[in-house]
Amino acid sequence: MPKQIHLAAHFPGVNHHTVWTDPSHQPDTQTAFASFEHLARTAERGKLDFLFLAEGLRLREQRGQLVDHDVVGRPDTYTVLAALAGVTSRLGLAGTINATFNEPYELARQFATLDHLSAGRAAWNVVTSSDAFHGANFRRGGYLDHADRYERAREVVEAARALWDAWAADAVVADAATGVYARDRSIGLVRTDGRLVDIEARPTLPRPPQGHPVIIQAGDSDAGRELAAQVADAVFSRHGSLEEGRAFYADVKGRLARYGRSPEDLKILPGASFVLGDTPAEAEERIREIQRQQVRPAVARAFVEQLWNRDLSDYDVDGPLPEIDPLVEAPSITQGRAATFKDPFAVAATWRALAAEKGLSIRELVIEVIGRQSFVGTPEHVADEIDRYVQSDASDGFILVPHLTPHGLDEFVDRVVPLLQERGSFRTEYTGTTLREHLGLPAAGHFGRTLDGVGAADEALPVA
Ligand SMILES: Cc1cc2nc3c(=O)[nH]c(=O)nc-3n(C[C@H](O)[C@H](O)[C@H](O)COP(=O)(O)O)c2cc1C
Repeated sequence: MPKQIHLAAHFPGVNHHTVWTDPSHQPDTQTAFASFEHLARTAERGKLDFLFLAEGLRLREQRGQLVDHDVVGRPDTYTVLAALAGVTSRLGLAGTINATFNEPYELARQFATLDHLSAGRAAWNVVTSSDAFHGANFRRGGYLDHADRYERAREVVEAARALWDAWAADAVVADAATGVYARDRSIGLVRTDGRLVDIEARPTLPRPPQGHPVIIQAGDSDAGRELAAQVADAVFSRHGSLEEGRAFYADVKGRLARYGRSPEDLKILPGASFVLGDTPAEAEERIREIQRQQVRPAVARAFVEQLWNRDLSDYDVDGPLPEIDPLVEAPSITQGRAATFKDPFAVAATWRALAAEKGLSIRELVIEVIGRQSFVGTPEHVADEIDRYVQSDASDGFILVPHLTPHGLDEFVDRVVPLLQERGSFRTEYTGTTLREHLGLPAAGHFGRTLDGVGAADEALPVA
């Protein structure tokens, strides 16, 4: 049997992936329940592993102005996923929630609730947030540097897992004859004394159906990859090309052994988009049009300004890249979620060389460098490629990012999924009921375990 492909559906929000200028996109498309319901039902019809929500907590500001085309209008993750639990029965429900500004007790309780409501389909994408600008939302502007955000994320996940483990799996007996609801000494106390997470708590909720909701991690630095190796069940990566994907896959899976884990314990799922056509030429024509809608002039200018760290409003985006250099010493013109460039001079030099080689304008250059992995072609070609990438260990599957909300996944489910099923590399029916089962992950945790720095269930009180 070929290696099995795992697929998820991303609900992308308003950014440079979403063609919100399409006539099908209405002002309430990003917030109406019908949108989420359509994507979820389509994903479940296609037997996908899960639906995925990203998190955008604050509108980006650039040159002192709001950037209106980036992560606008993302509703609250828990509320959306809880509502979707009611209209789906097998699809996993994954939500991005940052570990920097949220508290482990609340996080554990919210994901346990989602896991209960959905009968074992919850997943938490643990992010650390890309900059401290978001902290002001929580009266914590500038809170924690990069290294400490990851340290906190690890401590938060470990505390959440201890909380999920604090009720014995068979704690609730609800015995009418004896009047006992919870079994004696079956609800433990969790005490953590980490550097950044220090709690003492006894959860009020029974153990989640999955034991632990699935943990996803998105973050690409060395610290991010290490956190994934240590605590995650899946990684949402941006390395979707064949070569980069294989290097990332080998790197992250290679880190697992030092935590006593095996390669199949962690699934690597890069983001990928797709554009289908009846012929290769039609698909090519479609993607060119889509890219021009995704990278409209304002998007192209904002992106280049992030690297140059300057006002480039006088530049024609259909003309050449600026000849002046990026400003590196000055304070950043951007606050909030944005592209980050470690060495702006080197990146500018690469972009200039690429633009010169291919004769690209600013806008064409941005189209070239901003895109994520895209499978473009006939359904047969797209199915071949996805399968080839997975079979050659560039990934364990993909988080699909449709460019149209909410109908963009329809044609993939109708035209590509059946071809993957014919190959035997994608399920024709769900064989399990929980997301952990869909992903082929081992069962999670147990009551009374001890973790480094975390004592779970260490004081289980008698039941009155
Ligand atoms: C593919 C991918 C998706 C991400 N999605 C989100 C998101 O939805 N919300 C968010 O706040 N951060 C998101 N992040 C940001 C990361 O969590 C992380 O905070 C950021 O990348 C900085 O960590 P790093 O230096 O390890 O990459 C994402 C990162 C990656 C690689």
